[in-house]
Amino acid sequence: MNTFSRIIGTGGYLPKNVVTNADLEKTVNTSDQWIRERTGIEQRHVAEDGEHTVDLAENAARLAIEAAGISPQDIDLIIVATTTADQVFPSTACLLQSRLDIHGCPAFDIQAVCTGFVYGLSVADKFIRTGTSKCALVVGAETFSRIIDWTDRNTCVLFGDGAGAVVLKADNTPGILSTHLHADGDFAKLLHVPSGVSTNYPAVQEGRAYVEMAGSEVFKMAVKILGQIVDETLEANGLERQDIDWLVPHQANIRIIVATAKKLRMPMDRVVQTIAKHGNTSAASIPLALDHAVRANDIKAGELLLLEGFGGGFTWGSALIRY
Ligand code: COA
Repeated sequence: MNTFSRIIGTGGYLPKNVVTNADLEKTVNTSDQWIRERTGIEQRHVAEDGEHTVDLAENAARLAIEAAGISPQDIDLIIVATTTADQVFPSTACLLQSRLDIHGCPAFDIQAVCTGFVYGLSVADKFIRTGTSKCALVVGAETFSRIIDWTDRNTCVLFGDGAGAVVLKADNTPGILSTHLHADGDFAKLLHVPSGVSTNYPAVQEGRAYVEMAGSEVFKMAVKILGQIVDETLEANGLERQDIDWLVPHQANIRIIVATAKKLRMPMDRVVQTIAKHGNTSAASIPLALDHAVRANDIKAGELLLLEGFGGGFTWGSALIRY
């Protein structure tokens, strides 16, 4: 009998501290109206000093574990998708493993920026399909605020912090029907932090390793590739647009989300939208949106979900899921 992976629990966590558009009006030359009209964002959550990616990840993971009705010790694989790891090493996944008092199972981070959660889900699904794992914890967690230049209006209005998590379990029926991952490093400079451990390390030490972005080029690229990946996902599964019950998109810009929904001819009330309250939380955005819709009782058992995302790299990907 084939083994598939199923989502059996979701969790999400946002730092308490909220930064509104009105707050940003006081620090950069922007306006609440501009941010709402161009991005759909009203506010974002920003971690306090001393609150780290693993703290957010732990909160989201514990909620997903509780929702799944399992004990942490049932987990035999931990993947954390993050761009903002607590330390150079060990991985945030190892830090999380210790917090959850889990010992011995593989734990590692995935770096695919805003597509990270879809990458993580795809890898975990393959571990389960091959029989290597039976119960996986996949987390997207970010303190993206730490790599934002809060004086740069082109980027600081867009991003926020948070974490989302799912527990995946081996099952005889899917679950995750297919995942589709892509990257093209030729587009690295459209959206990047041009400093790291091996390049321009002083910028990292001095806390000025910041996101740089060619906004309108990223926008056009995102609309194009998300349209392509919708087609690819439907075709791979022999499905039509109307078969999808819910679109769970990466929350980067409401106008990008609307463009993808149009491509699917999907009414906006079937599109999970958290951007107004969360902003773009990078790898956390899709699992946070999923958890939001599950806990609101919008997404119901048996419905067909299309998750899609894009991000720095350039990376992009999708997952088709029977919930
Ligand atoms: N407040 C006010 N004005 C701003 C602003 C802000 N925060 N940011 C940019 N502007 C200005 C620009 O300077 C420009 O002014 P100009 O016409 O005098 O030169 C004007 O607004 C329009 O800029 P433009 O970049 O053309 O706007 P846009 O409609 O493309 O919206 C983004 C900008 C960044 C919101 C949009 O391009 C976007 O969302 N891109 C994708 C970003 C993304 O998703 N990144 C993450 C990927 S995971």
